[in-house]
Amino acid sequence: VKGGYEHFMLKEIHEQPDAIKDTYRGRLNAKEGLIRMAGIDDNIEKFLNANRIVIIACGTSWHAGLVAEYIFEDLVRIPVEVEYASEFRYRNPVITENDVVIAISQSGETADTLAAIKLAKSKGAFVFGVCNVVGSTIARETHAGAYTHAGPEIGVASTKAFTTQITVLMLIALKLAKEKGSISKSSFHHHLQELELIPGKVKKALKQDEHIKKIAEIYKDAKNCLYLGRGYNFPVALEGALKLKEISYIHAEGYPAAEMKHGPIALIDEHMPVFVIATKKGHYEKVVSNIEEIKARKGKIIGIVTEGDEAVKGLADHVIEVPETLESLSPLLTTIPLQLLSYHIAVLLNRNVDQPRNLAKSVTVE
Ligand code: F6R
Repeated sequence: VKGGYEHFMLKEIHEQPDAIKDTYRGRLNAKEGLIRMAGIDDNIEKFLNANRIVIIACGTSWHAGLVAEYIFEDLVRIPVEVEYASEFRYRNPVITENDVVIAISQSGETADTLAAIKLAKSKGAFVFGVCNVVGSTIARETHAGAYTHAGPEIGVASTKAFTTQITVLMLIALKLAKEKGSISKSSFHHHLQELELIPGKVKKALKQDEHIKKIAEIYKDAKNCLYLGRGYNFPVALEGALKLKEISYIHAEGYPAAEMKHGPIALIDEHMPVFVIATKKGHYEKVVSNIEEIKARKGKIIGIVTEGDEAVKGLADHVIEVPETLESLSPLLTTIPLQLLSYHIAVLLNRNVDQPRNLAKSVTVE
């Protein structure tokens, strides 16, 4: 069942190149410059006339929503808000028939997300679902939707769900941007071509596994870890910290790198590993100066960098390379080493990787 892997989580991490391909197969045609998605085609006016898009989700799916916020605002120029379903449902949100709500859920059964959908529908919003499990409750309760086609995810820690959700949301954003005219023809084509290269690049990122395992051995006894990123990779920092917490039980926090100086920098000493996503296009110089601030306080730096990077390599205690891509697609690559790192730390600590304590795969109660 685990396809020769020791755990479902590891199997699912390694399935990502194929899972991402399955997500865009039949939808993306880079040669002809086409994206076909029935759920969007049939409702294109609703999206294009929306005053704003509200994304609702929980946990890892919420992190994918945050990445989508950057993508949508950048490419489609529609304001986006990303909400925890559990907060949205109880705070009397201002929602009208001019809003489009996108609900993201791997299982399609999350109680809070479902309740938030019902609330949004009762206020007249058009609700679009991004689910993995076919025929799930959320897939049925939404007006329209797009499946991620990631295949079954058994490990409680979400991995391929995250990357395939981002892939679907990117396809939607590109399609809307093209329809709206908010993206140039050449940029649109460039995005499609780069998206098609992602599975191969994920495969390459996965090859760092042995190197990552060694880093896991060094930091497995840490009591706290920080994860930092900016822009498109800020949500990846949150997701990296969540992965570590839930399967290794090590306390971890994700932060936008520039927020460090507003508090968390007080935590830095020689015992604090800091995982910093510092890819070339994403505010690189600013992240490098954040790294210098941490180094000056003796923090240990593990940099997630673009292949061939020099500046971070010169400062960091360790670096893990990922292939170069568009900044907006970089979360699909930078998240891979962080998944592997959490996995190896959890295994080294003898944790129950696929079924961490106190957690369930689908949270059907609030
Ligand atoms: C984290 C994790 C959870 C889920 C969350 C939402 O690894 O698995 O945080 O992401 O419970 O679940 P779905 O996406 O099924 O609604």
